[in-house]
Amino acid sequence: MENKKCALGMIGLGTMGRNLLLNMADHGFNVCGYDRDTKMVEKINIEGQPTGTVGFTDIKQFITNLQSPKAVMLLVPAGKIVDAVIAELIPLLDKGDMIIDGGNSYVADTERRVIELNQAGLHFFGMGISGGEEGARRGPSMMPGGDKAAYETVKPIFEAVAVKVNNEPCVTYIGPGASGHFVKMVHNGIEYALMQLISEAYSVMKNGLQMPNEEIYEVFNGWNQGRLQSYLIEITKDIFAFKEAGATHLLLDEIKDAAKSKGTGKWTSQIAMDLEAPITVIDTAVTMRNLSKLKQLRLNAEAIYGGKETIGTNKAEFLIALEQTMYFATVVTYAQGMHNLYMASEAYGYALNMAEISKIWRGGCIIRAKFLEDIYHAYSNNSGLEHLLLDAKISESVKQILPATRKVLASVIASGVGAPAFTAALSYFEMLSTGNMPSNLIQAQRDFFGAHTYEKNGVEGVFHTQWEN
Ligand code: 6PG
Repeated sequence: MENKKCALGMIGLGTMGRNLLLNMADHGFNVCGYDRDTKMVEKINIEGQPTGTVGFTDIKQFITNLQSPKAVMLLVPAGKIVDAVIAELIPLLDKGDMIIDGGNSYVADTERRVIELNQAGLHFFGMGISGGEEGARRGPSMMPGGDKAAYETVKPIFEAVAVKVNNEPCVTYIGPGASGHFVKMVHNGIEYALMQLISEAYSVMKNGLQMPNEEIYEVFNGWNQGRLQSYLIEITKDIFAFKEAGATHLLLDEIKDAAKSKGTGKWTSQIAMDLEAPITVIDTAVTMRNLSKLKQLRLNAEAIYGGKETIGTNKAEFLIALEQTMYFATVVTYAQGMHNLYMASEAYGYALNMAEISKIWRGGCIIRAKFLEDIYHAYSNNSGLEHLLLDAKISESVKQILPATRKVLASVIASGVGAPAFTAALSYFEMLSTGNMPSNLIQAQRDFFGAHTYEKNGVEGVFHTQWEN
């Protein structure tokens, strides 16, 4: 087996690379791996025994072991390491060989690499992969974009390893350039926002309603059986049941309240600002991760302002309305993420197929959720749909839960328990659903102090006024 040339070679045998490689081998593909770290190579050599999958510590030996044209996939940390590995690979590869970057690379880096590798005579495409360790091993969702002809040659491998929903693989060619990595980045932005919303719901129950963990578990468990069913709610429910051996309390209660990040959420917000795409829930989630890290500052402020109140209400009724509020904010979050994709598609010429994207997010990835079925139907019915909240079915359910959402958030605000992502979702919605924003005043102010001009309703032209005598 070791002497047979491989259809694909994986560089980076950490958790993701190793598991994806083993997944490929399980599906009958002859693949091999390379890592500088001998421990990682030892691991693949042990775990790969049943399928004859081996690893190398010598990159030249690894490359020689690949069938031509060679397909080399990278699953290494995004950034400089990707460039370093590519620089090492270029002299070892022949024209027509292919490099696939499966990491969470920054979109501008992928765009640059597309050009550089094209000039070097190599095929290259960037592919977002979601699903973590378990997804890589059992079936992730994958978002390849860039060199379509190159993708086509390795498509059978990725379609085989991707998770299947209704017998269809959760992988599809996304579009040109860095679109695969762009779509994965927005996936992560949505992921950040949903995680923030869930953590705020936890805070409302814990701090506002003084509920013990066992009761909070029951709420998440209930949500996971209804329209909020999703991977993130499911693992949250499991976290609310997890105690270390011999412990009498949840592990959760020992964890510091400082959330870290690797940057994809921040990139989503930064790029959305450049695109002028309004994605307030994602922006808020990124900002709250930043605030969470400033523990001492928060403690100092708490010493001055402390004293939050409990939410005095009928708990059972409130929890019914909280489910509606969670659903409302979830809908707004996906709607903002999809709108971001819509605007990026127009601006960068990605020609994104929104139905296909929602289809491959239904399984394998971190943001998989029952609601993605509705999103998929919305875009299947209307491929040019500008905004999810304009879809007939989705708008019907939003109209039903809107009064409860407004009421719940009013009591949450009155109690002093923060819910910034929830309120961002509702405030965005209120402004989105009015043809009458107060931005006329901003235009008047801009013209007042800076002669920036303004336009008038129903009158052609650009105007400036001398506001002061
Ligand atoms: C996925 C995840 C993954 C990401 C982690 C951690 O889709 O499998 O999005 O790509 O790395 O979620 O991200 P942060 O460290 O930024 O929270």
